[in-house]
Amino acid sequence: MFSDKDIAHFSNLETPFYYYDLNLLRDTLKTCSDAANTYHFHVHYAMKANFNDKVLAKIKETGFGADCVSGGEVRKAIESGFAKNKVVFAGVGKSDKEINYALDQDIFCFNVESLQELQVINDLAGKKQKIAKVAIRINPNVDAHTHANITTGLDENKFGINSWDMPAAADILNASAHLEFVGIHFHIGSQITNLDVYKNLCVRVNEFAAWFEDKGFTVKILNVGGGLGIDYHQPNAQIPDFEAYFRIFSDFLDIKPHQEVHFELGRALVGQSSSLISRVLYVKNGKKKNFIVLDAGMTELMRPALYQAYHQIENLSQKSNAVKYDVVGPICESTDCFGKEVALPETFRNDLIAIRSTGAYGEVMASNYNLRDAIVTVTSDDVASS
Ligand code: LLP
Repeated sequence: MFSDKDIAHFSNLETPFYYYDLNLLRDTLKTCSDAANTYHFHVHYAMKANFNDKVLAKIKETGFGADCVSGGEVRKAIESGFAKNKVVFAGVGKSDKEINYALDQDIFCFNVESLQELQVINDLAGKKQKIAKVAIRINPNVDAHTHANITTGLDENKFGINSWDMPAAADILNASAHLEFVGIHFHIGSQITNLDVYKNLCVRVNEFAAWFEDKGFTVKILNVGGGLGIDYHQPNAQIPDFEAYFRIFSDFLDIKPHQEVHFELGRALVGQSSSLISRVLYVKNGKKKNFIVLDAGMTELMRPALYQAYHQIENLSQKSNAVKYDVVGPICESTDCFGKEVALPETFRNDLIAIRSTGAYGEVMASNYNLRDAIVTVTSDDVASS
């Protein structure tokens, strides 16, 4: 929801830009942190969702760790002040260079995604006379009931080690002098809105934890990943129900006294705290369709083009819902469309348009295709001090 002051501030700025509501971000983080603390759960923020410096600073202040998927993210987390012993490194294709860097930094642990990767980390740690802490990322074959492009925990997905390879993983762990097994890791997908899916995940986590403990391993960490969705149709409802989410894990996981439960939330923490603010370049009224051409496109926000993702679109300059428009960007691709048949007030050149709920996988997925300018950001602090 934008105040008159926000809109007046935006009208003096060049567009497009990402606007971050740092107050909402802070409230969201606090709600999550309070709920997690009630259950003694640990949260690592999934940095891939957004690594804007101002966003990261707020997340670090909350005391969360960082879940990283590249050497670049590990470096960014450390440079942003996240405690090294709260940095985890996941990813199906970690290069030797990235593994060596993370070993040098003594991060908390590697979430390992293949048998071969276990051996490579053992070899590289050996050359450095180090012991690498590892968690086994298990593909639990649990359907997350989300968009096929963001499902990760099914047999056909590339992520994690399959259940039938667990005996081989256990053999490698037993034979590897430079690996310390700390626990098991799962992540079944993103934008999960049916929380019952997590009950199924808990059943699998319990089975695998028991399996490893039966084999004589101590499973200290139960890392259940992230994936909690947000309501893209209610950008003003804003803070996800973290309490209901954590309660499922508290109710359905068999948590032993020596075990910690770790989460890797991305979207739910940052998604609602940002909007992409753009201006109307042109309005084209046709026989069959009316088009609004924005100065922002798929190069700034790729989700609609890539996953047909819905983002609420608002005209900040006009009132009343009168006309249906296809809202498109300037990029030379037909998929460069933010929404079809969107009901908006009658719209004019230079109107300000907000595309809502863009805090997660928005700015970080921007590209300079068509040699577009780099996207800039504006925060609620900038508005407050104006
Ligand atoms: N942990 C792992 C291992 C992951 O792969 C991911 C996301 C997360 C945690 C955080 O998931 P979240 O809580 O944000 O759902 N670009 C897509 C989403 C890709 C998610 C990739 N992995 C989108 O725009 O919807």
